[in-house]
Amino acid sequence: MTLPTRPLGQTKIRLTEIGFGAASLGNLNRRIDDATGRAAIDAAIAAGVGFVDTAPFYGRGLSERRVGDALREADRAIILSTKVGRLLTPDASATAEEARDGFLSPMPFRVVYDYSRDGILRSFEASLHRLGLDRVDMLFVHDIGRMVQGDAHDRHWAELTTGGGFDALESLRDQGAIGAFGLGVNEVEVCIDAIHAAPIDVLLLANRYTLLEQTPLDALFPLCAKNGVSVIAGAPYNSGILATGTRTGGTPYYDYSPAPDEIVARVRRIEAVADAWQVPLAAAALQFPLAHPCVVSVLPGIGDPRRLAQTLDLYRRPIPGGFWQALVTEGLLRSDAPVPTARDEAVRA
Ligand SMILES: NC(=O)c1ccc[n+]([C@@H]2O[C@H](COP(=O)([O-])OP(=O)(O)OC[C@H]3O[C@@H](n4cnc5c(N)ncnc54)[C@H](OP(=O)(O)O)[C@@H]3O)[C@@H](O)[C@H]2O)c1
Repeated sequence: MTLPTRPLGQTKIRLTEIGFGAASLGNLNRRIDDATGRAAIDAAIAAGVGFVDTAPFYGRGLSERRVGDALREADRAIILSTKVGRLLTPDASATAEEARDGFLSPMPFRVVYDYSRDGILRSFEASLHRLGLDRVDMLFVHDIGRMVQGDAHDRHWAELTTGGGFDALESLRDQGAIGAFGLGVNEVEVCIDAIHAAPIDVLLLANRYTLLEQTPLDALFPLCAKNGVSVIAGAPYNSGILATGTRTGGTPYYDYSPAPDEIVARVRRIEAVADAWQVPLAAAALQFPLAHPCVVSVLPGIGDPRRLAQTLDLYRRPIPGGFWQALVTEGLLRSDAPVPTARDEAVRA
């Protein structure tokens, strides 16, 4: 059993429309025990999810260890992506209680950024060891760009370009060690630069193509279409607020932090339209990115079996066309954004 799949760029890889975002298994914002994480990923595979994304950064190796243990025992091949750009070195001062970069009880390593040829190859090798697997399908250059790197971006970009980082990824793909490569980032600008700099297959773009933001429609998606680059839409809930909404009594999260007032106000307006059409906000947020032809998979964070079941229910929930039109009329969605159709629903039923 598998969910509907879409082809990735010019490669032989096909991704299920829903992927399993495994930052959760690195204890992003909440602790998940081994058994719960394992139950979540096993349930996803049993339900037909065929794509899992992890990274060395997620719990400093913890997510990769958990994902690898599950995939080694999976009854079919699951497409796996991990990331390069951060090397993990032992950190004797780390304590189990300490939260670092949003991850609770991460493993005792510190991050050293290295996007050079040597850094990329070492990162790949270390990931295989942590995963306990002999291959991964896709490697993403993680968090390159000014949003994360600030003034260090130019130096890291030089490591990738003149320093041989992109060449190393291309060689791994040519040798068949990986099936595809690209970036895993939160910003549009660096994606455009990467398409011009290297023959990438795919962009894992998080938080930027959601019900709250459609900037990739301007320049990035047309460029992807022209160059045959596929997009994985990560973090469809913008870190939470598009799943929880604004009315739970808790603090809604947006892009890893408590949501600013203007975002809360905008989500309240989207909630009003969703109420009028009896559409769960989270269903609209999950399904929206998949309507764009460049998007091959949407990648929400899933940390336990209950979330997995909810996610699949939201993915299959019928949404009337009038809801999307109402968002456009209210100025809450760009009129040039493709929206899900009855045909999409029929494929998922
Ligand atoms: N640079 C990159 O490459 C990059 C960046 C960001 C993300 N990603 C990828 O995208 C994946 C997803 O990102 P993300 O987890 O940051 O963002 P997300 O999926 O937009 O949001 C996750 C948050 O939404 C909550 N949530 C999910 N489903 C819910 C539901 N049905 N009802 C209520 N709350 C719900 C989760 O709560 P609970 O924890 O309680 O379930 C969690 O707090 C990551 O795991 C990673 O694979 C990649």
